[in-house]
Amino acid sequence: MTDMNSLRDWRFSIDEQQIAWAIFDREGESQNSLGRRPLEELGAIIERVEAGARDRSIVGLAILSGKEKGFIVGADVREFEQFTNEADVRTALRPVLDMLDRIEKMPVPVVCGIHGFCLGGGLELALACHYRIATRDDSTRVGFPEVRLGIFPGFNGTARSIRQAGALGAMPMMLSGSMVRASAARAMGLIDELVASPANLSWAARKAITQKRRSKPMGGWRNLARLWPARNLVVSKMRAETAKKVREDHYPAPFRLIDLFELHGGNLDAMKAAETQAFAPLMVSETSRNLRRVFKLMEMLKAQAPKDINFKPQRVHVIGAGVMGADIAGWCVAQGMEVTLQDLSADAIAKGIAAQGKLFSRRFRTKALKDAAKARLIADPNGDGIPRADVVIEAIVEKVEVKQNLFKSLEGKMKLGAVMATNTSSIMIEDIAAGLSDPGRLIGIHFFNPVAQMPLVEVIRGKQSREDEVRKGCAFVTAIDKFPLIVKSNPGFLVNRVLAPYMMNAMLRLEKGEAAELLDEAARTFGMPMGPIELADTVGLDICAHVGRILGFSADGSRLERLVAANKLGKKTGEGFYVWKDGKPVKTEKPYDKRDLERIGRELVEPLIRECEKCLAEGIVESADLVDAGVIFGTGFAPFRGGPLHYRTSAGGQAAPAQQAAE
Ligand code: NAI
Repeated sequence: MTDMNSLRDWRFSIDEQQIAWAIFDREGESQNSLGRRPLEELGAIIERVEAGARDRSIVGLAILSGKEKGFIVGADVREFEQFTNEADVRTALRPVLDMLDRIEKMPVPVVCGIHGFCLGGGLELALACHYRIATRDDSTRVGFPEVRLGIFPGFNGTARSIRQAGALGAMPMMLSGSMVRASAARAMGLIDELVASPANLSWAARKAITQKRRSKPMGGWRNLARLWPARNLVVSKMRAETAKKVREDHYPAPFRLIDLFELHGGNLDAMKAAETQAFAPLMVSETSRNLRRVFKLMEMLKAQAPKDINFKPQRVHVIGAGVMGADIAGWCVAQGMEVTLQDLSADAIAKGIAAQGKLFSRRFRTKALKDAAKARLIADPNGDGIPRADVVIEAIVEKVEVKQNLFKSLEGKMKLGAVMATNTSSIMIEDIAAGLSDPGRLIGIHFFNPVAQMPLVEVIRGKQSREDEVRKGCAFVTAIDKFPLIVKSNPGFLVNRVLAPYMMNAMLRLEKGEAAELLDEAARTFGMPMGPIELADTVGLDICAHVGRILGFSADGSRLERLVAANKLGKKTGEGFYVWKDGKPVKTEKPYDKRDLERIGRELVEPLIRECEKCLAEGIVESADLVDAGVIFGTGFAPFRGGPLHYRTSAGGQAAPAQQAAE
């Protein structure tokens, strides 16, 4: 038997009440993930506890995390790459599944205590235990994010979660990949008991073991959905709901999960066995590989924030309370910052602040937290917050002289070491910095609209910008839970620069007679979240024409220009390329040929990919991976294709010769 003192990822002990404690604290990692070694070590622990239960030297097992902030974030995604075929996947799963079955069959109580994230494989481990206790803390979340990686739970979590929470609770959770708070998880039956804080977990676990508490799986109507014919009804509803969100040819995992439930949802043992069969092909699929790549790209972006500088921004001053400034201010407040919001117009400030109510309601559960957020968002017409701010962001009118004057006036007022940033989308940072006594201080922090939904923020390095300021900019962006991408100053930065030729090319094709509906559907068939024509209407045709001009696309005499002249600016005025009703474009779609859609879709993204290649060659961002990361998180470029440059090197992503003529 393994020596319990030799464990590296777990600490094991048996106390005077004969309770065994397994504390998961993965060596050299800030978070616990279930990689090969921790799973093997857990296997050894289970063997030890089984022996102790047999000779009555152990009366129960408590599984807790040794990390301050989280229980288990899931299986170790880094290790997924080693699987090249389905048989490998099945072979690797077998011992884990056996171990979880042994936990479930353990003759003494096995209890787990959860604080922070309990996701994916972590939740599957928790579900094999006999009783689950979680902290009520806001940071405690449970869920199955697997579909986001192109798979579904593979440690028998599909069957166990259905047993525990009923099909109507567990299936939507697995299909959406969403996380729930502890209280909601308790209501669903995934958690049995809540405690106030992490300090209460061991005590509650001890009590649960000595009282031999066992979870009672959710029965009743929720589980009726497992029975045929109720299952049939539920399944068709699930298929329809899922199809509204994703396409089966792009994201097969949720559809395979529904198939699994349809076939085996009435017999959970059969479902456990079938889960592995259906899981293995997904794990080695191109889609899952690409989605894992996106996950790694996200980590890479987060890593752009330096860890070696002592810059912990807490106070932000935003100047300009229009579309962007107000939402930037609101977002920073929602992330815990204190924000002063300045504008020439008191009315703009008041409206901008009022508009953040929705975000705060979504973000904060209690009135106290919402009120605290409101109190952190301070109207500041005179700029009193400037000297105290760690970060000052300008989001005023897009005019170079006005911005220059503003920054000149800021120079003497800002505190030493504070970040000075502009949110400009089209003016060169160098031009705005001209005239400053310390032009090296200015950087761009370029948010995308809508701020709350767009995960990427470009951190613009002007020719003059000091490296330290760029690094502080990245630290700030990470502190407000966005992904920073360092971009060399150039017209359009990265995201707008690659979007412009894509959208202009689509508008040209429209001009030449192709239907807007066909072009939009083709782009969606490729995997874009929204077609280019609908996107142009959504962004605003005035903005499109403006950005296009700056990037050298002439709109002279075009339909775009005629629409702008007629003040038909798209969604915001009710008409652009489309007529808009109730916030949606009115489309007359025809049954297009699938092959046509696929061909046109590939042609449409071609100018975007070519611009990405140019950006890489010009060193606009540092690497091909970062170009892909920026374009996926900044434009929504088909994540399952792994990014534009990755797609280019994959089968099917080669440049189409016919396309050259289309541009
Ligand atoms: P906006 O027109 O909605 O708001 C600008 C606000 O600035 C107005 O409330 C105005 O009263 C105020 N303002 C003007 N001059 C001022 C001054 N000297 N001091 C204080 N306040 C002043 O503009 P929007 O769309 O919010 O754009 C702001 C900046 O963000 C621009 O630089 C724009 O290029 C950039 N941007 C805009 C995006 C968008 O989608 N609208 C996306 C990303 C960046």
